[in-house]
Amino acid sequence: MADELKVGFIGGGTMARAIAKGFIATNTVRESNIIASATTEKTLAVWKDMGCQTTLINKEVVENSNLVFLAVKPYIIVPVAKEIMSSIDTSRHLVVSVAAAITTDAIEESLPPFTRVIRANPNLACSVQCGALAFCKGRCALAEDVRLIKRLLQTSGMCVEVKESQMNAITAVGGSALAFFFLAIEAMSDGGVRVGLPRALSMDLASQTVLGAARLVQETGKHPAQLKDEVCSPGGTTIAGIQTLERAAFRSCFIDAVDSTTKRAAEIAELQKSKEK
Ligand SMILES: NC(=O)c1ccc[n+]([C@@H]2O[C@H](COP(=O)([O-])OP(=O)(O)OC[C@H]3O[C@@H](n4cnc5c(N)ncnc54)[C@H](OP(=O)(O)O)[C@@H]3O)[C@@H](O)[C@H]2O)c1
Repeated sequence: MADELKVGFIGGGTMARAIAKGFIATNTVRESNIIASATTEKTLAVWKDMGCQTTLINKEVVENSNLVFLAVKPYIIVPVAKEIMSSIDTSRHLVVSVAAAITTDAIEESLPPFTRVIRANPNLACSVQCGALAFCKGRCALAEDVRLIKRLLQTSGMCVEVKESQMNAITAVGGSALAFFFLAIEAMSDGGVRVGLPRALSMDLASQTVLGAARLVQETGKHPAQLKDEVCSPGGTTIAGIQTLERAAFRSCFIDAVDSTTKRAAEIAELQKSKEK
């Protein structure tokens, strides 16, 4: 695998680098078998330092790879797909888009008929190999494409196949929700400062506590409500804090945040579709 697979990234920004680092760190793809493009040499310098090939010409990425990631901003996914169209060999290339809100339909329509397309939704935690990734396949993607993508993307974190109709919800729970927890960590750290802790210590404790909560849920398999009960002793400190959160409708607030994020993802997808017409 490490020798055969040639992987290209069109758009060598944050997400492409995060995914490529997972491939390299796990020796799943050799760095010399990775090629990335961008609009500036400045962006490509990091890829050169990683030992990858680089180019300013998107078609060269396609010509030098069999797995092509489209990792540009969503609004230029379709123009870039059209630009590389003539270089796509449908029997050789698998195209994976990591762009939010762009459907497999839209990508397939901009590429030659029968192109195998996969749409993936990574998140920023891929850059620390702790991502929550989901993907869905387009009309022509094969079972072996799904197996390959799952194996590759697992190098950046957890990876699951979902239905395309679930992708907007995935954007909320698996993507935007990272920012909800950044907000929570910042607020907990502010709380620590409010009650007299130094900022750095308070920040370290807040982030480690969130990490610990996530690992407890994952590693014990217990329901979070059960873990919460185990932390709350009768008349104790934690239940007093829980009461404050419940008064502020903490859980309802999170549910609403996921709901509004999912709706916004759907709106953006519709907007994008109408622009393409
Ligand atoms: N970042 C996230 O947390 C995240 C999460 C989920 C999904 N995504 C998706 O990942 C995709 C990339 O996002 P990002 O955060 O990685 O953005 P980014 O850091 O801005 O990277 C985009 C890259 O595309 C390059 N580029 C621009 N126009 C190009 C063109 N015509 N041909 C080739 N390359 C071009 C840019 O190169 P220059 O810098 O040289 O101009 C830039 O390096 C987006 O579609 C986004 O929806 C991102």
